[in-house]
Amino acid sequence: MNPDMRITLTQFLIEERRRFPEAGGDFNSLLLNVALCCKRIARKVAAGALGGTMGSDGAINVQGELQQKLDVISNDIFVEGNNWGGYLAGMASEEMEQPYQIPGCYPRGRYLLVFDPMDGSSNIDVNLSVGSIFSVLRGADDDRPVTAADFLQPGVRQVAAGYAIYGPTTMLVLTVGNGVNGFTLCPQLGEFMLTHARLGVPPDTGEFAINASNSRFWEPPVTRYVNECLAGRTGPRGRDFNMRWIASMVADAHRILMRGGVFLYPRDSRNSAVPGRLRLLYEANPIGFLMEQAGGRASTGRQPVTSVTPTSLHQRIGLIFGSRHEVELIERYHNAPPPQELPEPLFCERSLFRAPA
Ligand code: F6P
Repeated sequence: MNPDMRITLTQFLIEERRRFPEAGGDFNSLLLNVALCCKRIARKVAAGALGGTMGSDGAINVQGELQQKLDVISNDIFVEGNNWGGYLAGMASEEMEQPYQIPGCYPRGRYLLVFDPMDGSSNIDVNLSVGSIFSVLRGADDDRPVTAADFLQPGVRQVAAGYAIYGPTTMLVLTVGNGVNGFTLCPQLGEFMLTHARLGVPPDTGEFAINASNSRFWEPPVTRYVNECLAGRTGPRGRDFNMRWIASMVADAHRILMRGGVFLYPRDSRNSAVPGRLRLLYEANPIGFLMEQAGGRASTGRQPVTSVTPTSLHQRIGLIFGSRHEVELIERYHNAPPPQELPEPLFCERSLFRAPA
């Protein structure tokens, strides 16, 4: 295809909408405005140290984490880019403790927008890839102010999800429940162009991603899986594995959508009040929806992540996603009965030595 004649995100969405003749224009307006927010954020990220947006102002967010300047700027861009459009009933974000109410001066719509405006923000100052993640849900059909409860829907109820990755190129990767498509931002036209149609995660992989510095806190099924990968050709898997960890989930997810792999940020024992690091509503669910739509799988280790009914807006969860056969194997390890403690052979009842008391 003549690269100048690639279809734009706008054309793609208009053609998708033809499948639903009853649909108004709200859904497409929402996605196009989210895309515009991502373009704005991409400009800020690309300016780097020249833009005066590096580093932190020292504020701590609702998660107890140090907020980067770009966390705040990106959140404002998402809020101000979407509050006026008349398609939203409310918004929720990693950077806002409570749901955002649509100001009374604007009309209200029926969708809910949930987002992490700047994922992987510890990578900003070192010029590595970061991203924005978003999820779209349907809201209640009434005019009362939105509450956290409106957002507590399992991921299977998402009507759209996606992310923008701000890397060597800026890309928007999107699902509206009909496969996954990737759009590259054309710097000349300022438009997202369809460059990666119908992305598919290969079911098998030889690559895994995990922050191994947490290994002492992992649960046995995760330790087992990683040890087997590390054992390589001479271990039970009979082949060598490669490891990657970018510490920006969007970037890790993007690599997996491009060439397969498995990502684990599992539940661990670091803090019993916090089962996992990643947030269910605006990290795990949208990435889970994308993975499922691309033929991959996303799981807590025990159940598909998109089947979990959230209990709070900023709930954290263990997350494992990527190539289907690997994720299924990790799930089998979680569901297997714990291995029996075998007595040390040298210390059995009838052995040379008595077991120590
Ligand atoms: O939730 C934010 C995040 O930055 C993810 O993008 C990333 O995968 C993870 O945290 C990195 O965590 P850690 O610093 O523990 O490796």
